[in-house]
Amino acid sequence: MKKLAAGNWKMNGVAASLSEVAALLQAHPAPACEMLLCPPATLVAQMVAMAAGTALRVGGQDCHAKASGAHTGDVSASMLRDAGAAYVIVGHSERRTDHAETDAAVAAKALAAQAAGLVPVVCIGETEAERDAGATLDVIGTQLHASVPDGSTAATLVVAYEPVWAIGTGRTPSLEQIAEVHAFLRARLTARLGAEAAGVRILYGGSVKPSNATEIFAIPHVDGALVGGASLKAADFGAIVAAL
Ligand code: G3P
Repeated sequence: MKKLAAGNWKMNGVAASLSEVAALLQAHPAPACEMLLCPPATLVAQMVAMAAGTALRVGGQDCHAKASGAHTGDVSASMLRDAGAAYVIVGHSERRTDHAETDAAVAAKALAAQAAGLVPVVCIGETEAERDAGATLDVIGTQLHASVPDGSTAATLVVAYEPVWAIGTGRTPSLEQIAEVHAFLRARLTARLGAEAAGVRILYGGSVKPSNATEIFAIPHVDGALVGGASLKAADFGAIVAAL
């Protein structure tokens, strides 16, 4: 599998922001890695139209576990697929916090995504208090086990390790800490999914920027990045894409 540079625009971006996508595509028409942007749901269809015939893939930022029904304000995986999305982020720490999403809810969303033909990017990560308490591997081991659907394969699953305290803070774990977690996740995935796990991409997310991308991408079992703030500007995201 190619490495994956994924951008999460979060609740940012209006139609005018798509000029950044045009600039990105112009500067990086044939990147060595897979390139993914996850805009707000309002921009998915427009971004898909811009991405047609290019190396850019488009994803959603969340989906409901049901395919349709009386769930005002929610978007289903099949709706995102219908709009042309290929991926969907599930279990981002902002969803887990803002919407009290449990591991079981995240697993149901990931399963719905797979059933709709989307690849879920399942996010996990410890809080600062959990890291300080020495509980990082326990926490992410539990999250991984309970958030990833059985039967996932390299083609149907991406995992993103995002330490909550590194998101939007400019702080990142040491390279050794990232290496420890990613090796741990690979081992856990292998125990769960067998040989298939070797190909599951494990992304690092949390304050990735052009200045630290190269050293993070050199860490074993780091198969790409999930980028927030730095994905909003073509120049920054393009530099991260070029580093993979
Ligand atoms: O999903 C990506 C994200 O949570 C990381 O955000 O702004 O620290 O790159 P940021």
